[in-house]
Amino acid sequence: MFKADLLSGKTFLITGGGSGLGKSMAQRFGELGANLVIMSRKLDVLEQTASELRQTGAEVLPLACDVRKPAQISSIVQSAIEKFGRIDGLVNNAAGNFISPTELLSEGGFKVIVDIVLNGTFNVTQAVGKEMIKAKGGTILNIVTTYAWTGSGYVVPSACAKAGVLALTRSLAVEWAKYGIRTNAIAPGPFPTEGAWNRLVPPGLGIEKTMKKRIPLKRFGEHIELANLAAYLMADGSGYINGEVVTIDGGEWLQGAGEFNDLEKIPKVVWKGLSAIRKGKK
Ligand code: HXC
Ligand code: NAP
Repeated sequence: MFKADLLSGKTFLITGGGSGLGKSMAQRFGELGANLVIMSRKLDVLEQTASELRQTGAEVLPLACDVRKPAQISSIVQSAIEKFGRIDGLVNNAAGNFISPTELLSEGGFKVIVDIVLNGTFNVTQAVGKEMIKAKGGTILNIVTTYAWTGSGYVVPSACAKAGVLALTRSLAVEWAKYGIRTNAIAPGPFPTEGAWNRLVPPGLGIEKTMKKRIPLKRFGEHIELANLAAYLMADGSGYINGEVVTIDGGEWLQGAGEFNDLEKIPKVVWKGLSAIRKGKK
């Protein structure tokens, strides 16, 4: 789908790059020639992932950091600049989430998710953004979700925080364009990962089956599909895309939105009957 050197010479920092979709994006960026800085809280996980990613030929710097801690972020940004000279791209992928009826949430339960997803994204964006401003350019990609604009019950802290990240995306797309910085987002539907499934899709409740049924393409997303979209948005060739949010969900959220989409359930024979009645009336 892409030239093998699409991202050659670039350095990308991916938050939450040790697992799940962050790891899959890092893998694709590495295959396409980028050097990688991956960061999250668990250094052992990052180091294991880094040794896998190095097989793409990429230089990989794994750095432990909590996105809620600005001092730690400053330190890892400096380490990345010392090693690679600059950061061309930032993917804000780190997140926290769980399902809970809203009335049962504790103060800490709401706060922890907003701190990681919204404040954490802001903290990293500001620290890396300052370096991009000095370097006269860069690309920022935020991973949100489709319910960032529809909202969703049972994941209210995440929905509120992702809506904030969506606003951050569109705000900076305008404010930082003058520095040569593009800011975009990807809104994924369901992509199976250990992190998401452990917290959001507990076994025995039929959640997975219901989710799959709701998706017009009748399947979950494949990591490579999202990683290719991310590579495209991070590449210079998409240089005029700024402030956009690309949905990648097999049509899932529109399925629920379209007034007559449930007519899918009407059997063909009934449509034929209705047609015959209409023609008979003529
Ligand atoms: C209710 C919960 C809870 C749960 C934690 N809390 N888990 N409340 N239900 N399942 C509350 C705690 O009681 C506490 O509040 C507060 O949250 C902090 O909990 P800690 O365990 O101390 O927090 P911490 O160790 O920082 O862990 C953060 C975490 C954890 C978010 C809770 O799950 C985590 O580390 N997640 C990272 C990875 C992740 O979540 N990946 C999934 C992303 S998927 P009190 O008041 O008691 O102090 C995603 C996909 C969306 O976003 C779309 C899918 C289709
Ligand atoms: P995941 O593997 O659990 O990814 C979350 C990552 O964030 C982990 O690597 C985690 O690493 C890191 N992280 C969490 N808290 C952190 C903190 N305080 N500081 C630094 N790093 C932190 O889940 P995923 O499914 O791949 O999710 C990746 C992104 O896609 C998230 O933004 C999520 O909201 C989004 N998304 C996923 C889906 C899906 O279906 N999978 C759908 C829509 C959107 P540590 O634990 O080591 O810190």
